Amino acid sequence: MGEKETEKAIWEQMRGPPIASHHPTIPKILLLLILFVSLTYVVYTLKLVSTSRACNHLPFATQTDPEDRTALRHVVFGIAASAKLWNQRKNYIKLWYRPREMRGVVWLDQNITPEPDEDSLPPVRISGDTARFKYTNRQGHRSAIRISRIVSETLRLGLKDVRWFVMGDDDTVFVTENLIRVLRKYDHNQFYYIGSLSESHLQNIFFSYNMAYGGGGFAISYPLAKALYKMQDRCIQRYPALYGSDDRMQACMAELGVPLTKEIGFHQYDVYGNLLGLLASHPVTPLVSLHHLDVVEPIFPNMSRVQALERLTIPMKLDSAGLMQQSICYDTSKSWTVSVSWGFAVQIFRGVFSPREMEMPSRTFLNWYRRADYTAYAFNTRPVSRNPCQKPFVFYFSKAKYNSTMHQIVSEYERHRVPHPDCRWKMANPAALDKVEVYKKPDPHLWDRAPRRNCCRVNKSREKGTMVIHVGMCSEGEVSET
Ligand SMILES: *[C@@H]1O[C@H](CO)[C@@H](O)[C@H](O)[C@H]1NC(C)=O
Ligand SMILES: *[C@@H]1O[C@H](CO)[C@@H](O)[C@H](O)[C@H]1NC(C)=O
Ligand SMILES: *[C@@H]1O[C@H](CO)[C@@H](O)[C@H](O)[C@H]1NC(C)=O
Repeated sequence: MGEKETEKAIWEQMRGPPIASHHPTIPKILLLLILFVSLTYVVYTLKLVSTSRACNHLPFATQTDPEDRTALRHVVFGIAASAKLWNQRKNYIKLWYRPREMRGVVWLDQNITPEPDEDSLPPVRISGDTARFKYTNRQGHRSAIRISRIVSETLRLGLKDVRWFVMGDDDTVFVTENLIRVLRKYDHNQFYYIGSLSESHLQNIFFSYNMAYGGGGFAISYPLAKALYKMQDRCIQRYPALYGSDDRMQACMAELGVPLTKEIGFHQYDVYGNLLGLLASHPVTPLVSLHHLDVVEPIFPNMSRVQALERLTIPMKLDSAGLMQQSICYDTSKSWTVSVSWGFAVQIFRGVFSPREMEMPSRTFLNWYRRADYTAYAFNTRPVSRNPCQKPFVFYFSKAKYNSTMHQIVSEYERHRVPHPDCRWKMANPAALDKVEVYKKPDPHLWDRAPRRNCCRVNKSREKGTMVIHVGMCSEGEVSET
């Protein structure tokens, strides 16, 4: 079969049943009668209500039918990988990919010898040849062309009932339930290009503030993928000098006139060092992805990168909506500020920091451009305090379980034992604590409500060396204040 014919066959396959076939046939005369009656009714009611405006008109498909809501089965992942790094990187994919519930394809540059673990991974395919495309960027690598064509190549597979194509790298970890929570907000029948920027202001200037950074992952609605597929190869030829795959994608989106819809739970993480500052002050939005996990330090200390992420899957499974969500409260009897990043870490500070300070990421991480300073981030950050009394006591997530009698998740955070400088403030020392216990009801509908940080309350602890905290929806009139 020639290329054209293959294409035709694929398009036939994808087109699906004609829309009219969803409706049973009704005799013509009956149809006319119904039409007449409804028209009369409409004219009549319009007269009656002409003074009041129709206010229940919603801008797009509301997807109120739970059967029709976007689910994981409507998503196809396209993962950019290379044969050279596959044996190491596939461990990141295993952390989040569930072969029985998800669809996805790993696109490689060349064949690999299959190993027994492949059945816990998406099927592997080899990308089409891209030798005919021009690539003139001196810094980059021409694999960028191959990777930018993944959405089109995945669409060509002709999978059924696809609403979204989600791109990611082999070192991207998705929180798939949260991905669905985000995608559900948008009408998959329209053109959507959803993702997020780089943390680095300079990256965003060099590339674009209108671009979804590929490593953080991005989503393309089905009809947009179809439109892209029809023009992408011509489009790619027009931008031989671009660096990567995601800027090529953005160039084609610009030609299609489709802007980036920013969802800041996708994380490119163009930073070095320790992610603590960023993760502990996660924005009030679901955590969708993590990237550059080979570049940053393991998110939990004293373990390997993959082990650390495995640990994160414990709270992820118990309450994905609440994962990493920050809440801020005060232990007034001790004059401490407490910041909970649920499922990840609890930080205790001597003294009172306002929520507007605590919700700002502290610069525990380094800039992608190593000589750039704090002005080079695309959001506000705060410095790591130099005052010896203000060094936070960090408690990292260690374990959690659901208690069915209390209907609550009990999670534990153990103190990260690092030397603390002497502090002369006459107040209680958080070093007296070994662990923090956090109680929280699972809240799968957290993001069905308007975004709001949870509240936390410090409770009396019966055990010495343990702090007990409750996290949950703020009650009427409850505010983070001392
Ligand atoms: C690191 O982990 C090892 C074993 O997992 C343990 O023996 C050691 O005490 C840990 N070190 C720190 C600083 O927590
Ligand atoms: C659940 O909590 C109750 C009340 O605190 C406690 O008595 C019970 O042992 C807990 N159950 C489990 C399985 O931990
Ligand atoms: C925790 O403290 C709050 C008030 O500070 C109280 O309403 C709640 O009942 C306490 N919960 C437990 C389990 O002690």
